[in-house]
Amino acid sequence: MRPDRQDRLNSKEYFDRISDRWDSIRSGFFSENLGKKAVDAASLSPGASVADIGAGSGFITEELLTRGHHVIAVDQSEKMLLALRTRVGDRGSIDCRVGEDRSLPVADSSVDAALANMFLHHVESPPDAIREMARIVKPGGRVVLSDLDEHTFEFLRTEQHDRWMGFKRDDIRRWFAEAGLIDISVTSAEETCCASSECGGETAKVTIFLAAGTKK
Ligand SMILES: C[S@@+](CC[C@H](N)C(=O)[O-])C[C@H]1O[C@@H](n2cnc3c(N)ncnc32)[C@H](O)[C@@H]1O
Repeated sequence: MRPDRQDRLNSKEYFDRISDRWDSIRSGFFSENLGKKAVDAASLSPGASVADIGAGSGFITEELLTRGHHVIAVDQSEKMLLALRTRVGDRGSIDCRVGEDRSLPVADSSVDAALANMFLHHVESPPDAIREMARIVKPGGRVVLSDLDEHTFEFLRTEQHDRWMGFKRDDIRRWFAEAGLIDISVTSAEETCCASSECGGETAKVTIFLAAGTKK
């Protein structure tokens, strides 16, 4: 499904604007367990270095820091990264970098894993974003994505700035393979994203997939 929406705000402006409210908005969407499952899927050794892409206010970053990993948090929105800093305080080792999906500010083959939760449906080219995540991971390292299965809730695009209405798991599998990843799994996260429209009372319940692959 191609994006055809006329944006009033661009994506960065939208996330800048909601940065101080994102934590409370997100907590109504999906459970904290999703972050734990995503981090589990990365099969990290103690003290691993991990990039959290589209980190937002730190949903995944916080779980990584709690487990003692070193985090590079990347987001297009400086305001989101400020919210992340406020949330995690001086807990653990964290390096916040402003950057975009097409050119992540992280060196080639430099991190043990790259994770992204609810990031892919915001980018212009999902296959390119996956390729870019694979670029920064060391050989043997993991790329992990959690995101929405394909859905039909148009209000998520018009009200919440989603660009893609979820994904087919076969597409995700193919894009992982095209990015040079192996040992690919795309399974149900056994979590649901629930969101209500601000106009008209429609409620979306969308299943969430968890995708993981290893760099050759
Ligand atoms: C739906 S939020 C998810 C935030 C966080 N991962 C979470 O689970 O709470 C999407 C985040 O991705 C960031 N983002 C969207 N498009 C991006 C892009 N093209 N490059 C970098 N960051 C992007 C947004 O600024 C936002 O913080």
